[in-house]
Amino acid sequence: MISLPALLPRFIVTVLITIILLFSSASAWKKDEFRNCDQTPFCKRARSRTPHSLPHFTLSDPSISDGHLTARLLQSISSSDNDSAAGDAPRPLLLRLSVYQGGILRLKIDEDHSDPSAPSKKRFEVPDVVLPDFEDRRLWLSRVSSSDDGSTSSVYLSEDFEAILRHNPFEVQVRRKGSNDPSISLNSHGLFDFEQLREKKEGEDWEERFRGHTDTRPYGPQSISFDVSFHGAEFVYGIPEHASNSLALRPTRGPGVEHSEPYRLFNLDVFEYIHDSPFGIYGSIPFMLSHGVKSSSGFFWLNAAEMQIDVLAPGWDDAAAAVKGRIDTFWMSEAGIVDTFFFVGPRSKDVIQQYASVTGTLAMPQEFAIAYHQCRWNYRDEEDVASVDAGFDEHDIPYDVLWLDIEHTDGKRYFTWDKVLFPNPEEMQKKLFSKGRRMVTIVDPHIKRDESYYVHKEATDKGYYVKDASGKDFDGWCWSGSSSYPDTLNPEVREWWSEKFSLQNYGGSTPSLYIWNDMNEPSVFNGPEISMPRDALHFGGVEHRELHNAYGYYFHMATADGLLKRGNVKDRPFVLSRAFFAGSQRHGAIWTGDNSADWDHLKSSVPMILTLGLTGMSFSGADIGGFFGNPEPELLVRWYQLGAYYPFFRAHAHHDTKRREPWLFGEQKTALIREAIHTRYSLLPYYYSLFRKASASGVPILRPLWLEFPEDKETFDNSEAFMIGESILVQGIYEEGQKSVSVYLPGEQSWYSMRNGAAYAGGQAHKLDVFEDSIPSFQRAGSIVPRKYRFRRSTTQMTNDPYTLVIALNSSLAAEGELYIDDGRSYDFEHGAYIHRRFVFSNGRLTSSSIDLAAAPPREKFSSSCTVERIILLGMRPGGAKKAVIEPGNYETVVEPGPLVLRAGAGSVALVIRKPDVRIADDWTIKVL
Ligand code: NOJ
Repeated sequence: MISLPALLPRFIVTVLITIILLFSSASAWKKDEFRNCDQTPFCKRARSRTPHSLPHFTLSDPSISDGHLTARLLQSISSSDNDSAAGDAPRPLLLRLSVYQGGILRLKIDEDHSDPSAPSKKRFEVPDVVLPDFEDRRLWLSRVSSSDDGSTSSVYLSEDFEAILRHNPFEVQVRRKGSNDPSISLNSHGLFDFEQLREKKEGEDWEERFRGHTDTRPYGPQSISFDVSFHGAEFVYGIPEHASNSLALRPTRGPGVEHSEPYRLFNLDVFEYIHDSPFGIYGSIPFMLSHGVKSSSGFFWLNAAEMQIDVLAPGWDDAAAAVKGRIDTFWMSEAGIVDTFFFVGPRSKDVIQQYASVTGTLAMPQEFAIAYHQCRWNYRDEEDVASVDAGFDEHDIPYDVLWLDIEHTDGKRYFTWDKVLFPNPEEMQKKLFSKGRRMVTIVDPHIKRDESYYVHKEATDKGYYVKDASGKDFDGWCWSGSSSYPDTLNPEVREWWSEKFSLQNYGGSTPSLYIWNDMNEPSVFNGPEISMPRDALHFGGVEHRELHNAYGYYFHMATADGLLKRGNVKDRPFVLSRAFFAGSQRHGAIWTGDNSADWDHLKSSVPMILTLGLTGMSFSGADIGGFFGNPEPELLVRWYQLGAYYPFFRAHAHHDTKRREPWLFGEQKTALIREAIHTRYSLLPYYYSLFRKASASGVPILRPLWLEFPEDKETFDNSEAFMIGESILVQGIYEEGQKSVSVYLPGEQSWYSMRNGAAYAGGQAHKLDVFEDSIPSFQRAGSIVPRKYRFRRSTTQMTNDPYTLVIALNSSLAAEGELYIDDGRSYDFEHGAYIHRRFVFSNGRLTSSSIDLAAAPPREKFSSSCTVERIILLGMRPGGAKKAVIEPGNYETVVEPGPLVLRAGAGSVALVIRKPDVRIADDWTIKVL
């Protein structure tokens, strides 16, 4: 029996934590909880270095080994900083440079463990992020070319690019062949530094303290820093996750910078994060892209320790002030190795694809997952679930997934159900599924330390938890009270975790249940910065500091794997995660966490989601309505109108907020929200086709305008509008009571309002009236967008519905588009079971033909009996056509004026080919006369 005195400390901690939580829910972002650069010794040290100061690194003995270029990096003199290797003779570092197909250079720098004086502890190299087949794309280097004076070595990178290594001082440049100007370079400013692991000296204090927490730092200082320059760049983008109003990364240091904090990459559960700040939040992707009129390039540092990145303002260093069109950046990490990738572009879509060839593309989701999700902390009980579900039907609003937050469990023991509130979970899921709807439950990584809880018992017995610095199971506080965290860095633990999702192991689950991983930064309420201590220990003796940013990645991976196995590798998993790292796109979706119900957060959702898309995480969204607080009905409607275009479309709210299901704000607001959700459902064929494209090539679903109009400078700093694929442009409305908005429409072709079909000239800004019923959206002239205009309860019921093709003609009266369809569920598409059509309209004729990209004949087939029920022609003068002739069959149908939007009262704004009734899967031609 546990005695009262033994219980007391735990009781006090519980009370304290409750007080902290209560207090924090009453106030906003607590900046002091988190370290700034000055309170982070490695960051402060690195930032104090000046260009070309000591230490100074020289490259020696370049040679070819195993198709790589290898060399030694000699540190000429050690830094005199008190926390660095003062007094020790630095050991040479090992440098390895490798070249991959498609214009990718990989540069690794680590300690040389063959050196007998090297410490036995190895620095952490992040496993399982680089795609296993990436190595197959390596180009075998056979020789190093040296300059006549021996001061540089160069290697072939691609037909157009080469890599130059300057020996003294050490510098790496990637440049176009024959050009003297690099496109991207590392250590051009001599800021490279590498703190080597070493023995502690007597009297030296390696510990670090922050707000009552002590980090024992048993291995001492081990940080790495260097400068990277992007040449020919107007702006740099990427390195999520930060809340920001701006898609382009703003300078963080140098002339004109007021609050000088670097962009921080450190996965943290930041309570009520503010909408515009370089502080790190839930996820980290150390990948930056640069863009200029002539070219783009990219840089990725595979390192999971805390990272801080400065974007340096022109003039940060006097010499730099002279160089136009170059953006200098400074990268600092607390631990790990240099494992960096340079992407040569030269177009921005090339850079994205080059990055995708290293870390992968998004996992193709099931169709239901890209439709509308209804969530709240919490739907109370089965009755509540049933009434919310019925509410959608009563109000004629489609939705696909209902979510249950932490309160559905038995005392926050994941994989269990509160028996009073949810006595019949299987039946509940089956009822939803009978309408084609799914359920998602939350499964977090903090496992309640309760002897009678089987997950805890197994994890303890098997030794599967992360350990604290003393080697005991780490014990931290989260929703479930005293908790431990599975060490999913260990493949054996991942395997064990994944089995927890089988239908036998997860009692009360059915095949229509999917999963939400939250708090996986990991969030630890009583830990330093609300997370795990950096000296906690993982599999293989890896310190938490080395792996921190990837903890959530491995947890997400293990969960997605569990769902995959549950369905015998037939059903595509759906797992939403809050924490993420480079490569998370292969495991599921993410969302931008606990935003607030205000206009600023509505606005910052767009640059945040665009940034995620540029860095691989295309399947993302923000909580519709804002998580904290109660949105005014106008804000809620605007959020639905914008959120209906997010790749991940989910409404969610904190338990202290008022209920906000779409029908609770009066008939008129219900109608507006219904219309926003209908817009998304009508566009699902287009979205699904874009998801397929993203899963094949890495090009995001939501795109900054400059990705489609790379030479148009007007678009480079636009954070308010975005493209959906190549054909649709959307402008958000971010102000209360806004009456008009200026929308910049790029390109030479015109754009058609998706609200009323009106045409607007491209290449200029238009001042437009703002309407209550929608936010401005436009279809690009020259495009064809497939849609479905029959509204059902969920996507499942839309499967056999006919299509509408919306053709927006360009100035030559031509247009083209695509449609991708498969079973929306399985992996058969990987074996050829899909339909992929190309539509081309020219010379008054629309043709549909098959796009067949498969290298081998299909093993599986997919068929569809869906037809095209309507073709809308935008840009053809009224009376420009009266009838249409369809081949094969040579039959006629009428062409007449009709509405673009199938809303009651919408006027006739377009020519409509009525009921061509051709099958979507067939080849055909329709001629308008
Ligand atoms: C934090 C998550 O960000 C939020 O979405 C969720 O509702 C709460 N945890 C409770 O699980």
